[in-house]
Amino acid sequence: MSEQPRLVVLASGRGSNFQAILNAIKQQRLAATLGAMISDRAGAGALELAANQDVDTVCIEPRHFSGRDDYEKALMTAIDGFAPHWVVLAGFMRVLGANLVHHYLGRMINIHPSLLPRHRGLNTHRRVLEAGESDHGASVHFVTPALDSGPVIAQVRMRVAEDDTADTLADRLLPLEHRLYPATLALLLDHRVELRDEDICIDDQTIAAPLRLGRDLDDDGRLVRPGER
Ligand code: GAR
Repeated sequence: MSEQPRLVVLASGRGSNFQAILNAIKQQRLAATLGAMISDRAGAGALELAANQDVDTVCIEPRHFSGRDDYEKALMTAIDGFAPHWVVLAGFMRVLGANLVHHYLGRMINIHPSLLPRHRGLNTHRRVLEAGESDHGASVHFVTPALDSGPVIAQVRMRVAEDDTADTLADRLLPLEHRLYPATLALLLDHRVELRDEDICIDDQTIAAPLRLGRDLDDDGRLVRPGER
């Protein structure tokens, strides 16, 4: 049997997206192995979740380094120690420098709680409400040097209700993120998606817009053909 692709997940917080990915692996919806959970915060819930489920953990805190370059060198060494095929950012709340991003270009992905290119950065739920938007969602994208700007592979959408607050939006979006991330990873592990410059190609065809979960992509990462939608 050929070796399964290995993921290294980076997270700064509670780790619910990490858990969703791990669940998908355990339930054999995702044909991958988890190399490690790496965090930049010693108190991150994600580290505890991983350790409790026998996933290797590494914590590298920026405060122990003289600057960003040194920190990212150590981070890269730690990641490369697990020889991952994919580096998966799941709530890793640091802006990464160009050297590190280039090192993993085309095999590092991130989930962001907005319909990119809308609302890069923080406080996306509040900003959706302030802008009076009627829909919201999450995006999985390739990581490129500019913050939250890499080509978007797939999105999940939801309607904004009149009585939504930033908290209810976040609460309603999270379970959708937990479906979107494993589904997008399953598609990527099928070797059909490729980052070419700023374009995403699927089966050698550039896609004009991100795939939408439930319309173009099912929860197992299978592409839904137009006639079957
Ligand atoms: C998720 O909502 C994710 O989309 C967001 O952080 C949260 C992590 O939650 N990521 C970003 O904002 C990245 N810019 P989790 O730790 O429970 O997975």
